[in-house]
Amino acid sequence: MSKIIISPSILSADFANLERDIKCVEDAGADWLHVDVMDGHFVPNITIGVPVVKSIKKVTNLPLDVHLMIENPEKYIEPFAKAGADILTFHYEAVKDIQLIVDLIKSFGIKAGMSIKPKTSPDEILKYLGILDLLLVMTVEPGFGGQSFMEDCAEKIPVIKRHAPENLIIQVDGGINAQTAKICTDYGANSLVAGNYIYKSDNIKSAILSLR
Ligand code: DX5
Ligand code: ZN
Repeated sequence: MSKIIISPSILSADFANLERDIKCVEDAGADWLHVDVMDGHFVPNITIGVPVVKSIKKVTNLPLDVHLMIENPEKYIEPFAKAGADILTFHYEAVKDIQLIVDLIKSFGIKAGMSIKPKTSPDEILKYLGILDLLLVMTVEPGFGGQSFMEDCAEKIPVIKRHAPENLIIQVDGGINAQTAKICTDYGANSLVAGNYIYKSDNIKSAILSLR
């Protein structure tokens, strides 16, 4: 069985103690660190930007899994890549020329991910699976942490899996806990993002273990 990549979302961390909260998931066995970038246009919330990613890079060895919930993501690929992103995931719904943005991301020697919102059908994106390193299936409407998992979104995973090359990382994000993680990994996901479930638990290490 291949390893499940666990990517805690720092959206649920204490931003006044970000270094402490990053170290604590790193020590607890996280594989990546999920960084949610929101612009107040693509989603109705504003979070963090390039300078914060640059600072985070200095205090962790975890790969930075940067989820861009922004309009015109092509404008920000270079700054985020230079700030230290290791995986850059843009939204399918925000981009006209998918090949162009994927090529741009890969030109910085980092992984290219694409995310789909709950209402986007997997059929629309199957043709892009071969050029991506990661496909992120949102299991909530993007914008906020702490929402409830939508199981019908997870049902897209087997469709994607059937058409995906062997090495495509299939990630899920939104409402992930020990129970919903199992649903997603049974469907074929091999990377899990979790914010509230990890950061609001009493024991971060066992929370991460329970997702595997
Ligand atoms: C939502 C973000 C998620 C969020 C997940 O738009 O993309 O990464 O932080 O938080 P939980 O795990 O609490 O649903
Ligand atoms: Zn996210």
